[in-house]
Amino acid sequence: MALTDSYGRTATDLRVSVTDRCNLRCAYCMPAEGLDWLPRPELLTDDELVRLVGLAVGRLGITEVRFTGGEPLLRRGLTGIIERVAALSPRPQISMTTNGIGLDKLAAPLHAAGLDRINVSLDTLSPETFVALARRDRLGDVLKGLVAAAETGLAPVKVNTVLMRGVNDHEAADLLRFCLGGGYELRFIEQMPLDAQHGWRRAEMVTADEILAELQTGFSLVPADPAERGSAPAETFLVDGGPQTVGIIGSVTRPFCGACDRVRLTADGQLRNCLFARTESDLRTPLRAGASDDELADRWHRCLAVKLPGHGINDPGFLQPARPMSAIGG
Ligand code: 5AD
Ligand code: SF4
Repeated sequence: MALTDSYGRTATDLRVSVTDRCNLRCAYCMPAEGLDWLPRPELLTDDELVRLVGLAVGRLGITEVRFTGGEPLLRRGLTGIIERVAALSPRPQISMTTNGIGLDKLAAPLHAAGLDRINVSLDTLSPETFVALARRDRLGDVLKGLVAAAETGLAPVKVNTVLMRGVNDHEAADLLRFCLGGGYELRFIEQMPLDAQHGWRRAEMVTADEILAELQTGFSLVPADPAERGSAPAETFLVDGGPQTVGIIGSVTRPFCGACDRVRLTADGQLRNCLFARTESDLRTPLRAGASDDELADRWHRCLAVKLPGHGINDPGFLQPARPMSAIGG
């Protein structure tokens, strides 16, 4: 039975965080010193993870599975997990959001295992800015990963960019030119209050309006057919007559919660009906206590049933979720 909520939305897109660890320390996500990682016994094993995804695909109407982190490429056995998910029936679409480090070697095996599409995070083209933003000197690895993804035939290769005022916000046009040249689909994402150190400030967020205005000084942007947007969070524009596009995801100033079709499973087996949910449904405990598929499916339905209409970031009483993005999964 489909995962519907009380506002008439149906969750069909499952985001699975396979680890909360990361080899970068992006300022909008983590403090420089990193975080206390989840203890290993709390993480779902490969078998547990595949059982839950199998249930979601086989009985709950999930048609797309996206692997996230932390950094998903750090999960040992990721290729095997993807192979097993690709063997599920009906086979879901399989995608991944990664920072790209290590993708130069993994793109081909992951694609062969069943990965269909990939999103790579890239916030700057300057090695110095990369270090300032991600606190590691790894821009070269990310760029190698991007090239490998495209050469392997993962299509489309999307690039996610978060602009931070005074750090990389002067690079919007350069990043777009770079992505047009490489054949990547660029999407800018407004910075959301999800960082572990609670450093998000509304005034420092570069808004969708600002990004659009900045890009329009160098490119002609025409809205792509809004009928094609569906539940996709990005507003898409044809660049210089197309066919290439750029997307802007106004998570904060242009929320798309009314069309949300997502549900999230954390690396430690907690189900979340929203990035910003303040509660989680524990699937790991019943799973380890021998729960039947019926019992697990029932928990899954109850989690979705209480999904709120929106993220509430713009409400005066907004409270950030207790877990940071890296432990929830993009
Ligand atoms: N706001 C917006 N996007 C974020 N990401 C990580 N943290 C934030 C945030 N606070 C992005 C990453 C990656 C994806 C998982 O989400 O850059 O592309
Ligand atoms: Fe790692 Fe992604 Fe967080 Fe950057 S945003 S520190 S790449 S989990």
